[in-house]
Amino acid sequence: MPSGSLTVVGTGIQAATHLTAEARLAVEQADEALYLVNDAVTAAWIERANPKPRSLTPFYEHGKDRREIYGAIVDEIVSRVRQGLDVCAVLYGHPGVFAWPGHEAIRRLRAEGFGARMLPGISTEDCLVADLGIDPASSGCQSYEATDFLVRRRTIDTGALVILWQVGLVGEWRFDRDPTMRGLPLLVERLLELYPAEHETILYEASPYPMCEPIVQRLPLRAVGEAEVSPVVTMVLPPREEPEFDREMLERVRLRLS
Ligand SMILES: C[S@@+](CC[C@H](N)C(=O)[O-])C[C@H]1O[C@@H](n2cnc3c(N)ncnc32)[C@H](O)[C@@H]1O
Repeated sequence: MPSGSLTVVGTGIQAATHLTAEARLAVEQADEALYLVNDAVTAAWIERANPKPRSLTPFYEHGKDRREIYGAIVDEIVSRVRQGLDVCAVLYGHPGVFAWPGHEAIRRLRAEGFGARMLPGISTEDCLVADLGIDPASSGCQSYEATDFLVRRRTIDTGALVILWQVGLVGEWRFDRDPTMRGLPLLVERLLELYPAEHETILYEASPYPMCEPIVQRLPLRAVGEAEVSPVVTMVLPPREEPEFDREMLERVRLRLS
């Protein structure tokens, strides 16, 4: 195996407190930490904990295609490992949940024979389950990236919970320092084909700081297009109805078990 390796870790959502013990060790022990986090406290900790820390935020150039930005980040991570360094890529949340670069860097490095792994972290969905008191097992749960949901006209089961990510960035294929939210009404228009106008919709923002409460807006779906939405908000649609039992299957299952 060539020298040089990659460990991709997540810092969780809440500054410092969500970092797991194994992620902490990985940051401290790596030759270099390349990081992309969205709070200053975590960034400051990485700067102290690793001998060669470097933020990846300069890759986010205003107006640049997001796919190009993510591709450049992957190239950067991969090239440092190829130089023989043990690199730790540090992303916020869970590093592999709605986050492509970590997966792609690992895939490419493994194909070249390097050691590469991902450690789990606390994601938005983990915080949401705790803060909103929702168990994804009660109804089942579907997660979609909002733009993907819209442009592929995804089919959803309205009898199960739906989580839509990146609703503040609908259609924003280019990086914008001040996202416009112009695509949100289109998302609402599509959702109104699937849910009644009065259907409760939750706009959820987990708190990045331990002492602060999450921001939870509950409003009828029809009002979401005009709501104040932060770029990091996640949308939650509770089930519209409880699905009927398939009586025939229920009977067959009973017979099997009796
Ligand atoms: C690129 S994804 C990164 C997700 C991250 N890897 C995770 O594990 O949660 C960004 C999206 O995650 C969600 N998100 C990130 N931070 C959040 C927060 N503090 N509260 C609610 N949703 C958040 C939003 O849907 C946002 O558009």
